Amino acid sequence: MIYLDNGATSYPKPRVMLAAMEECILKYCGNPGRSGHFLSIKTGEEVYHARKRIAAFFGIEKAEQLIFTKNTTEALNLGIKGLLRSGDHVITTSMEHNSVLRPLKSLEKFGITHSVLRADRDGLLTAADIEKTIRPNTKLIIVTAASNVTGGKMPIAEIGELAKRKGIFFMVDGAQGAGLLFRHGVPPVMMPRACSAQGAGWMPLDVAHMHIDLLAFPGHKGLLGPQGSGGLYASPRTALRPMLEGGTGTESKSREQPREFPEGFEAGTINRPAIIGLGRGTEFVAKIGVDVIARYEEELISYLDACLDEMPGVLRYGPPAGKKTGITLFNIEGLPAEEVTATLNNQYGIAVRGGYHCAGLAHKSIGTWEQGGVRVSVGPFNTKAQMQKLTDAVWQISSRQTRQNRLL
Ligand code: ALA
Repeated sequence: MIYLDNGATSYPKPRVMLAAMEECILKYCGNPGRSGHFLSIKTGEEVYHARKRIAAFFGIEKAEQLIFTKNTTEALNLGIKGLLRSGDHVITTSMEHNSVLRPLKSLEKFGITHSVLRADRDGLLTAADIEKTIRPNTKLIIVTAASNVTGGKMPIAEIGELAKRKGIFFMVDGAQGAGLLFRHGVPPVMMPRACSAQGAGWMPLDVAHMHIDLLAFPGHKGLLGPQGSGGLYASPRTALRPMLEGGTGTESKSREQPREFPEGFEAGTINRPAIIGLGRGTEFVAKIGVDVIARYEEELISYLDACLDEMPGVLRYGPPAGKKTGITLFNIEGLPAEEVTATLNNQYGIAVRGGYHCAGLAHKSIGTWEQGGVRVSVGPFNTKAQMQKLTDAVWQISSRQTRQNRLL
C-alpha cells in the first residue's frame, strides 16, 4: 500500500514514538496527581517532559498553558466555547474545517455571531480581507494554518499582527499546519537562525512571534504521535473557562472546578501513554528539522502537481507550489471523486481521501461543491517513486475514461 492520506492521519509512525508508549504502559503507567507512589510520580515526570518539549516546539513560553486534549476538534471546541460570551462576534474563513464551523453555528443560539470570509478560487485570502470584516464587537479571529482541502497556507503572521493591533483574540487551527513552516510575509528578524543564514523566509508556527492566543493542534498528524492525542495552547489573557468538570487531582474538597492550568482543563484520567508518545514524536520531528520535512513534502507535491498538470482530462485545484503544504486536490473529468479514490485503492493499492474532507465551504470556494475532489497528502516517509506510481495510475484511469467518453 502506498499511503498518501497523511492529512487524515500520518502513517507510518516512528518506532521511537511506539517504544515510548510501550515503555510507559509496560513499565510505569500510574495516575499522576491522584497518588504519590513511584509509578504515579514517574508518569507525571514523563508527561511534564512531553509538555515542555511540545511547548518549546511551538514557541510557548509557559508550558503549563498547553492543555492536552484528545484531538484538534476537542481543542477547537474548548478554545471557542471557553472564550466566547453572548454578544461576541467572530471572523473566520470559508476554508475552515467543520470542527470550527459547526461550533460557531451552534453558538448562534447563545447570541454569538460570526462572519465567514470567502476565500478566492485558489482558496486563499489576505489579512486585509479580514480587516474589512472587523466589527466593534469582534472578539476572535479563527483561521486554519493550512487548508486540509488544498494545502493552501494562510498568512498567519500577518493576521496575528492585525489581531494584535486591533486587540482581538487570534485562534489558529493547526490541524494541517502543526509540523509546518511558513514563508510568507515573515520579517527577517523572526527567522530561525539556521534558515536566516540562507536568507530564506521560513519559520515554524510560533505562538509568540505570530501573536497567537489559541493554537489547536493534533498529535497524530505532522507531529507523528498516536491518534487520541492533541492539544490547545491558551495564552493567559484568554481567561478560558474549562469545558469539562470533574476530578483534577487538586482541591478535592471544593465543589467548584479549579481554573489552574493545565489541571483544571484536563479533568478525568487522560491518555498519558499517548501524550508521552506525542512528546517523543515531536522530538523526532524537531531532530530531523521541521524546515527539512516541510521542504521535502513540498518538493514531492510540486513534482506531483507538475505531472498532473500535463495530463489532459485532469483538473487540479488550489494554489501553486510555494503557497501550499504537501497536499494536492484533483479530479478526473467525468468521474466522481469517490470512484477515483476507490479505484486507486482497489486496483493500485494507493490510499488517498476523496469527497468533501469535512470542509464543504472550502469546496464551494474553489469550485468543487458539486463533485468534491481527490486529495493527496504526503508525509515525511513518502518518496518521489511513489509520486511516479500515483501519476502512472492517474494517467491510466484518466485515459480509460477519455476512451469511454469518446465511445459515448
Ligand atoms: N480532518 C482530517 C482530514 O482532513 C481528518 O482528513
